[in-house]
Amino acid sequence: MHRSNLLPTVTLLSGLLLTGLVLTTATALADDPASASRPAYDGDHLRVPADYREWIYLTSGFDMSYRAGAEPSHHMFDNVFVDAESYRAFVKTGTWPEKTMLVLESRGAGSQASINKAGHFQDGDVMGVEIHVKDRARFPDGWAFFAADGGEKTAGLIPRSENCYSCHASHAAVDMTFVQFYPTLLPIATAKRTLSEAYRKESGAR
Ligand code: HEC
Repeated sequence: MHRSNLLPTVTLLSGLLLTGLVLTTATALADDPASASRPAYDGDHLRVPADYREWIYLTSGFDMSYRAGAEPSHHMFDNVFVDAESYRAFVKTGTWPEKTMLVLESRGAGSQASINKAGHFQDGDVMGVEIHVKDRARFPDGWAFFAADGGEKTAGLIPRSENCYSCHASHAAVDMTFVQFYPTLLPIATAKRTLSEAYRKESGAR
């Protein structure tokens, strides 16, 4: 074959190869449950995102309680994560887009093990996860809460009558979420003036 006739064949072949590669990657991503950072449901249950530990980290709370003088019977940590896409939208706008998912993970606290003599560290397995989802297409109020025990693959919907909804609605700093306790987000919301009226009244913030 003459050299100049080879070029179109080579171009065609590499084009086909590239298309194949792109298609395979796209299928792998769609099939991989670990890459799902958008809410996915099984009936009325939410699938617990398998890879939330690779999301953006917002905070850890230690023995947080909402009643004055409450003494915990055992120490607890909570860790809060948000999906990366919604985090990036928050950095731009100071609030959450549709399909945002925030995961609060609870773990027990340990002390006096290995070289540790004072203070507390996170100990052992996940005790439970609570998930906050913004999905107006499914929930007319916008947000919904789900909860699962540690290790469970799906989380049950928490009814509207539970106090989760009322406490978050009346005290959270931005759009039903407790941004006043997420130190990297509060300055953004303050600068973009997206703080809720309830929080501004409570804290004296503008
Ligand atoms: C009395 C107020 C109060 C109640 C009731 C409450 N929460 Fe929260 N919630 C908070 C606070 C404060 C935080 C911030 C936690 C931190 O800083 O670690 C929070 C954070 C969260 C988060 C992380 C995302 C976000 O929205 O900021 C989830 C998920 C969550 N709560 C779920 C629940 C569920 C589920 C219930 C009901 C079973 C519930 N909460 C009840 C005060 C409350």
